[in-house]
Amino acid sequence: TWTMAGFRDMEIARIREQVGTGHVICGLSGGVDSSVAAVLIHEAIGDQLTCIFVDHGMLRAGEAEEVVSTFQGQFNIRLVHRDASDIFLSALDGVTDPEIKRKTIGRLFVEVFEEEATKLGGAQFLAQGTLYPDVIESVSFTGGPSVTIKSHHNVGGLPERMNMKLVEPLRELFKDEVRDLGRELGIPENIVGRHPFPGPGLSIRIPGAITREKLDLLRKVDTVFLEEIRAAGLYDAIWQAFAVLLPVRTVGVMGDGRTYDQACALRAVTSTDGMTADVYPFDMGFLTRVAGRIVNEVRGINRVTYDITSKPPGTIEWE
Ligand code: XMP
Repeated sequence: TWTMAGFRDMEIARIREQVGTGHVICGLSGGVDSSVAAVLIHEAIGDQLTCIFVDHGMLRAGEAEEVVSTFQGQFNIRLVHRDASDIFLSALDGVTDPEIKRKTIGRLFVEVFEEEATKLGGAQFLAQGTLYPDVIESVSFTGGPSVTIKSHHNVGGLPERMNMKLVEPLRELFKDEVRDLGRELGIPENIVGRHPFPGPGLSIRIPGAITREKLDLLRKVDTVFLEEIRAAGLYDAIWQAFAVLLPVRTVGVMGDGRTYDQACALRAVTSTDGMTADVYPFDMGFLTRVAGRIVNEVRGINRVTYDITSKPPGTIEWE
């Protein structure tokens, strides 16, 4: 009978056979797929694997530290952590168009990744956390949403330019199976059960131009929202939950004074594959508690809205 432990052992043997004494480079994003691929490959070949984590500066609060402490600290995986936030943020300076944000981030991601791979002296293999649905979709669609969605993680053209072969140990699995494999490998639940997070990160949750200040503000709002969701035991019932920083200032009252600060939106949806989504039906008491905390704790925000649009016709992200 098929078991996840059996699959793991079979894949480990396959990876060893494919890689031999060669070296593998793997891009780590902190997401489920690349995390599981990295730990599985590390079990197979140990220090013949080096992970490259390109930090574009648009991750959530504490995320970069968590990636480093989990993979370097806990799993002892060789990891290059490249803080490239200056490069990304200066290239995005004044950019307001969502597609240009995505293209800029995708292009820089490949450039920085290649630079780091070259510094390592290259490798014969590139690992990717490609899943079964990615394999099918990239065959049956060209230019559909899945292609855009994956564009960031896919270091397009790099394997050919650097003459690397692909190692894709997850290409027979669906998302829930990848999570099970991750648990089998001892990856902590906060990574295995993590909500999907877009490659372009918080940049597409800040309509309009991005600045470090706006990113910091959004991180604070996002942290409060997720804290409350976890505290209420709702995290696993939700597909994705996040905050959006709105490019609008509104009037409020605080103590004896009048405020004129920014508004934010909260978004939480249920979904099975991200293609369609329903609004998560929080009770009003939960929402008003979160709103109260945000306005009191996050200086610069004085209004909170909840996005009640389903997909379709809305999308999950705002950009
Ligand atoms: P939308 O907003 O299109 O999102 O309803 C569907 C799913 O895809 C994620 N998403 C992205 N992921 N790069 C990514 O890696 C992107 O450019 C991108 N845009 C959206 C989104 O978070 C949701 O899970």
